[in-house]
Amino acid sequence: MKGYYKADPWSIIEEGFDPSMHEASESIFSLGNGRMGQRANFEERYSGDTLQGTYLAGVYYPDKTRVGWWKNGYPEYFAKVLNAPNWTGIDVEIGGEALDLHTIKTVEFRRELNMKQGYLERTFAIYKGENRLEIEVRRFLSMKRNETGAIRYAIRSVDYSGPVSFTPYLDGNVVNQDSNYDEKFWDMEVSKAVPGSAYLMARTRKTGFVACMAMGHMVELNGEHLEQEQEVVQREDYVSNRISLELGQGEEVILYKFVSILTSMNHKPEDMVISAVKVLAGAMAAGFEGLFKEHVKVWEEKWAHSDIVIEGDTSAQQGIRFNIFQLNQTYTGTDERLNIGPKGFTGEKYGGSTYWDTEAYMIPFYLSTARQEVSRNLLVYRYKHLGKAIENAVKLGFTGGAALYPMVTMNGEECHNEWEITFEEIHRNGAIAFAIYNYIRYTGDKDYLAECGLEVLIAISRFWRQRITWSEEKQKYVMLGVTGPNEYENNVNNNWYTNKMASWTLSYTMKALDYLKKTHASSYDTLVAKTGFDPKKEPAIWRDIVEKLHFPMEEKSGVFLQQDGFMDKEQRMAADLDPAERPINQHWSWDRILRSCFIKQADVLQGIFVFEDEFDRDTMERNFDFYEPRTVHESSLSPCVHSILATRLGRYEKAYEMYLRTSRLDLDDYNNEVHEGLHITSMGGTWMSVIYGFGGMKVKEGLLSFEPALPENWEALSFKILYRGRILQVRIDKEKVGIDNLEGEGVDLYLMGSKIHLEKSGSLIADL
Ligand code: BGC
Repeated sequence: MKGYYKADPWSIIEEGFDPSMHEASESIFSLGNGRMGQRANFEERYSGDTLQGTYLAGVYYPDKTRVGWWKNGYPEYFAKVLNAPNWTGIDVEIGGEALDLHTIKTVEFRRELNMKQGYLERTFAIYKGENRLEIEVRRFLSMKRNETGAIRYAIRSVDYSGPVSFTPYLDGNVVNQDSNYDEKFWDMEVSKAVPGSAYLMARTRKTGFVACMAMGHMVELNGEHLEQEQEVVQREDYVSNRISLELGQGEEVILYKFVSILTSMNHKPEDMVISAVKVLAGAMAAGFEGLFKEHVKVWEEKWAHSDIVIEGDTSAQQGIRFNIFQLNQTYTGTDERLNIGPKGFTGEKYGGSTYWDTEAYMIPFYLSTARQEVSRNLLVYRYKHLGKAIENAVKLGFTGGAALYPMVTMNGEECHNEWEITFEEIHRNGAIAFAIYNYIRYTGDKDYLAECGLEVLIAISRFWRQRITWSEEKQKYVMLGVTGPNEYENNVNNNWYTNKMASWTLSYTMKALDYLKKTHASSYDTLVAKTGFDPKKEPAIWRDIVEKLHFPMEEKSGVFLQQDGFMDKEQRMAADLDPAERPINQHWSWDRILRSCFIKQADVLQGIFVFEDEFDRDTMERNFDFYEPRTVHESSLSPCVHSILATRLGRYEKAYEMYLRTSRLDLDDYNNEVHEGLHITSMGGTWMSVIYGFGGMKVKEGLLSFEPALPENWEALSFKILYRGRILQVRIDKEKVGIDNLEGEGVDLYLMGSKIHLEKSGSLIADL
């Protein structure tokens, strides 16, 4: 699929319609505004393969778990973000025939996702007999009014004359493709249609979320407002208005469809119809152009802080902007109840739930490109789930306030039923602990420890303490039966990465306790009382674990072993695999995958990336050279980490190859699955591969540090970083790196290894 979308710095462009690519394009051209998201389903009915997808943030359904052999400890349900009523639909008839792009041939088809301004546009022409009609459809989900969507549907007749009709509708008859029991997830509550407008209200089964959508429309003929008779349809799960007219040669008719989309996350169900009608009225009063202008303004602000400019490489530029665009439209950070699913609002896979992806991959992006409370909200989300994480640990047999955060969650409960894969990936607890440290290290907001952070750290440390056991034979502590980030190994002993995260958490929790005791004595006392923490006994055993935890090593080469026994496997290289068998997860049996040495995603290397400063270059190199050739990168979360480490090691070609793989993973469909949705959480990793990798940014001894290096074919790279009230503009070219302090006080930092002060409004420049 490489090269299917045209290279362009600001847009994703598809030229010509290929039905076999339609579901992939529905993912690629998705729109969102943090409150909801929409796959790029056509407005008109489409009889070909399509994945209808409208998703509302926080609105989910607990689909009953389906397993063959139930085991104690399995979660009762798998939560799913629901496919919500369809608000984009507009049936179109021309000359009495339904416009269906699966059956009617289009010419000059072009679809564009304009990332600068955040809209989706399609243009195409069709022929009715000999007569030509040109169609242009634009839509956006307002970033300013996050409960509003708008569509402009224009039909221009070149030389056709005859009937045309539009039927804008709201349709509640939607299902999830991934439903376990083919159940319907919504019950319809109210529906009403009158000429010019309609609304529909539905309630989710079991969870009782309510969604209400109201639509209105306006029609223009040759630029003049048109009042037209309308046929109204009102069924329980469907409402529509039909507008019919005669279109003459050279004439243009435009239908504007406005929709308000509200949920009970933010409104009382009893007020929702009135509120939806009000929001709709506001949108209609602003008009399509008015709404669009204010929407574009929000995008301008977003880009002003988060854009990355790559000079000399359009494909790389398009890739990074696509990632940043999707990140910004998935999560805006205004609501601490929300989080980021691996597919964002672009597909059903992963159920829209929260994974370790957020802490490990997303927080760095929001830390440096958005207001501080955005990443803080992501931490608070986990803080609010602490009670559930403790309950979750109790279910599995842990005691005394130990917390095991779920690998997959909507509301704090574990909601996935893949025991060995997801359940045993307890490394997520480490990522959640590390994110607290990462946030404080970057923002300096140490009060967060007293307010929320330390309580979480204590509970996680208690879990590690119980999960780690003593081996008489090894005379070491060990951690048995886990799955590391590499999901192509299940139920292994002493996964190096997980052991590292556990040991680090214990050490950090002890440091944080000392800090709080010294600096916030009364908060410390309150916390000790609240958690029943025993300052004598608990740290003593934690310390012992840190000192005596087993880390598997390959003695001969000095490589950290991914887990005990890894060298018993037949050692093969990914490059020797038959390309026809890749991705192996689509060609090999699970049994074969588990026995092989092939690594799905960074695992030991994930640990080396996270704790980079603990390892010297030789250690990093040895491990990279061992693991990279065995890694198949079949998780989207993998290439970014390899790209960053390759940059550190001066392997720019490899770093660039991995960068393209992460940034264009979806655009070039490397893993052959983009039709299921986009890899939103890995996009945070793409951002890291540019800023931490080529941009060479990290936090070193409490200060920001930059030591960049560009790939061969980049002329220059520039980006902005928000850092403790400052906006820093960084520009790197082949020879130099410059940093301007655009806003905020002066700041000490490291530039190419030297500690240096950047004045308020000052600039620095250094040779590479
Ligand atoms: C990866 C996990 C990740 C999940 C959701 C899986 O393929 O292996 O690390 O959490 O996808 O993105």
